Amino acid sequence: MSKTGPLSKKLHVKTYGCQMNVYDSARMADVMAPYGYAASDRADGADLVILNTCHIREKATEKVYSELGRLRVMKEEAAKEGRRMLIAVAGCVAQAEGEEIVRRAPVVDMVFGPQTYHRLPELVTRALGRETGRGGWRGAGVVDTDFPAEDKFDHLPEESRTQGAAAFLSIQEGCDKFCTFCVVPYTRGAEFSRPAAAVVAEARRLVAGGALEITLLGQNVNAYHGEGPDGRDWGLGRLIRALAEIDGLARLRYTTSHPRDMDDDLIAAHGEVPALMPYLHLPVQSGSDRILDTMNRGHTADDYRRIVDRLRDARPDLALSSDFIVGFPGESDRDFADTLRLVREVGFAQAYSFKYSARAGTPAASVADQLSEAEKSDRLEALQQILNAQQRAFNEAAVGSVQPVLFERRGNRPGQLVGRGPWMQSIHAEAPERLLGAIVGVAVDLGGANSLSGHVVTVETAGRVDPVAPSPQPPPAERVPA
Ligand code: SAH
Ligand code: SF4
Ligand code: F3S
Repeated sequence: MSKTGPLSKKLHVKTYGCQMNVYDSARMADVMAPYGYAASDRADGADLVILNTCHIREKATEKVYSELGRLRVMKEEAAKEGRRMLIAVAGCVAQAEGEEIVRRAPVVDMVFGPQTYHRLPELVTRALGRETGRGGWRGAGVVDTDFPAEDKFDHLPEESRTQGAAAFLSIQEGCDKFCTFCVVPYTRGAEFSRPAAAVVAEARRLVAGGALEITLLGQNVNAYHGEGPDGRDWGLGRLIRALAEIDGLARLRYTTSHPRDMDDDLIAAHGEVPALMPYLHLPVQSGSDRILDTMNRGHTADDYRRIVDRLRDARPDLALSSDFIVGFPGESDRDFADTLRLVREVGFAQAYSFKYSARAGTPAASVADQLSEAEKSDRLEALQQILNAQQRAFNEAAVGSVQPVLFERRGNRPGQLVGRGPWMQSIHAEAPERLLGAIVGVAVDLGGANSLSGHVVTVETAGRVDPVAPSPQPPPAERVPA
């Protein structure tokens, strides 16, 4: 395929799953832009539709097939009008199921995994050639689920057209931990860290393009051990300190981390690097040592408590978020009670909780002692009741504080903008559009179940502003009910 000047074709990417997929989707758009593909937020009328998929739970995978049913109708209608619509399945379902997807949904023209999307223009050429019978590509769709030896990051365009004031940056991929419930080590492959210099260079470009906040991404982001410019191995703490020196970068975050990789330097960075925001997503999955062991998590519930204590010693206003799985095979009432106890003791500002979903090929799926759907649902409800109450209390405690908010998008109500505060809360306020992409002080008036609202108190018109110091809040442990 040849590079063209004007953007004459439409590309629609629909993203499922984690933030790594959000980042990958943005990069797919970057890869296709030089070939004339403009990003579109509608599948209808698009020349190329990519579903960037997630395989983590059964529901996530099912969603992809029902979306493909809808796309089939759209593709047929396009064909009637003499338009060609290519359909691609990317991401973790693509990696896990490969050709099976084309067999089950023949409407799919291309299947490619998370490691090969830098080859997208070539795949599109092959798929188009297959349709016209040129190039010998007839029959089944084009499938590319290699784990190529080359580093895809070296083959992606440097300029990103799709990242805004709050940008994502993938620094680490894959996972070697093999938790017994999880598909990620199979879909994303072995752990890999990008060299620190490449990460810093990409961060500089993002900041030059208007980013005030960067979230560093990785399936196990704190297992980061990239080659530093000094030839030594850099951990995440060292990398964060280097990134914090970039002029104009106001905020840093990272996700998702594993308790096992929370090292001393990273914990210290939470106390020493002001740009590192006081919010951490640290999945614990369960509060039962027996379950943590069969999950192969490699830490106990008390290890987790100790890590949290050390983090809060370093940064007293740190708010925590976590992931939980209920109904893991063999989970007894007592195991579940241990999870509830841990939740009450630690106190979370936000959390994600899931019913265990058996995934083919993972060790836990073949354990005989599976729980019933009804048991899983009851436990999920009990856990979510506590987590929701904690989140609400955390949000209510913000009322009366002034928080620096990075406005990222328009709100549902006219005249309203929405952005994030330091503790990751969504904060709504009436504000002029020119404040999109700026950090503005907002006095919080209301704290709801999922978000906050308030009014703008400091407005900086120069575009770039320094973060406003938030007014103090009581430490999270005192804000969440037991
Ligand atoms: N790397 C991250 C998690 C990535 S997957 C970590 O180690 O924490 C995101 C979340 O999905 C997990 O934290 C887990 O809570 C959930 N999850 C993963 N596999 C699951 C499964 N089979 N059933 C239910 N939830 C699952
Ligand atoms: Fe999955 Fe465990 Fe790896 Fe996280 S650490 S991605 S849960 S295997
Ligand atoms: Fe889903 Fe793959 Fe992310 S399975 S959670 S999209 S790594």
